[in-house]
Amino acid sequence: MHYKNKKILITGAGSGIGKSILKQFVDRGATSFAVVGRKKEPLEELKKEFPGANFTIITGDVSKKVDLDKIVRLVEESMGGLDILVNNAGVVSAGLLQDISDEDIINQININLTGLILLTKKSLALLKKSKEGAIINISSGLGYIGMPFYSVYAATKAAVRQFSDSLRRELLDYPLHIMTVYPTTTDTNMMKNAKVGEMDTPEEVAEATLKGMEENEINVILGGEQRKKQIELNFNDPKKMDELSKQNYESMRERTENHRSM
Ligand SMILES: NC(=O)c1ccc[n+]([C@@H]2O[C@H](COP(=O)([O-])OP(=O)(O)OC[C@H]3O[C@@H](n4cnc5c(N)ncnc54)[C@H](OP(=O)(O)O)[C@@H]3O)[C@@H](O)[C@H]2O)c1
Repeated sequence: MHYKNKKILITGAGSGIGKSILKQFVDRGATSFAVVGRKKEPLEELKKEFPGANFTIITGDVSKKVDLDKIVRLVEESMGGLDILVNNAGVVSAGLLQDISDEDIINQININLTGLILLTKKSLALLKKSKEGAIINISSGLGYIGMPFYSVYAATKAAVRQFSDSLRRELLDYPLHIMTVYPTTTDTNMMKNAKVGEMDTPEEVAEATLKGMEENEINVILGGEQRKKQIELNFNDPKKMDELSKQNYESMRERTENHRSM
């Protein structure tokens, strides 16, 4: 895919993985971006960091229908079309299910899943006009393997996986590459309150994402061969994965007890 004249919309582009994906596009010659987030400053900063690119800055909350309509309207008005949608905005609130507030449960679903689906739906009319387009959905390793303390987050990310697969099969007649990315723990703002050891960098996730685009991948799974084996094990022998989870239960509880980025 050539990126030079592509019109690209990225949610959550002001930080972490979204911003690193933006940089990868810029490095490959893309100049036309619409960027979305709730906070204005990190989006405005992008103009300084990437002076060669043109930005449509859109402050908005992907869990609000009215904001989604605004996003699509501004994309059409300012860029005149859309080739690539990167659904990256996301939040997490970990804990035992009974301890996660109702509000955090609803907001994780609304931001990570409902917002992603609605923005995709509302962008489709523009995307279908692209001669060479893409939808990139950022899921999570937890979208393949559910883990304790992440029941809600994992549910949203697994749903993103099924949404992507279904939609891809629905749109096979269009020149749209629909791809899902499954990062493992990545060193971003989202992980500030989680006690984890080694993490991927957002740059590594972004590089794998663009490599996935170039190689026409459907799923980009971070974490190497080991992760792929775990996914296989989880599918073929979920009880074995239950045992592994039991062994790590207390350390997981400790690692995740303050993990909240909403
Ligand atoms: N870090 C990891 O270990 C990891 C692992 C697997 C998957 N992921 C996924 O990767 C994606 C990016 O996360 P990240 O790790 O890069 O964390 P991050 O730096 O916290 O990025 C999240 C971005 O989403 C935006 N956002 C959050 N809620 C939003 C809302 N309601 N409306 C619009 N924008 C919103 C945030 O900007 P504002 O706060 O300004 O809105 C922020 O720019 C997420 O979908 C996350 O679930 C991350």
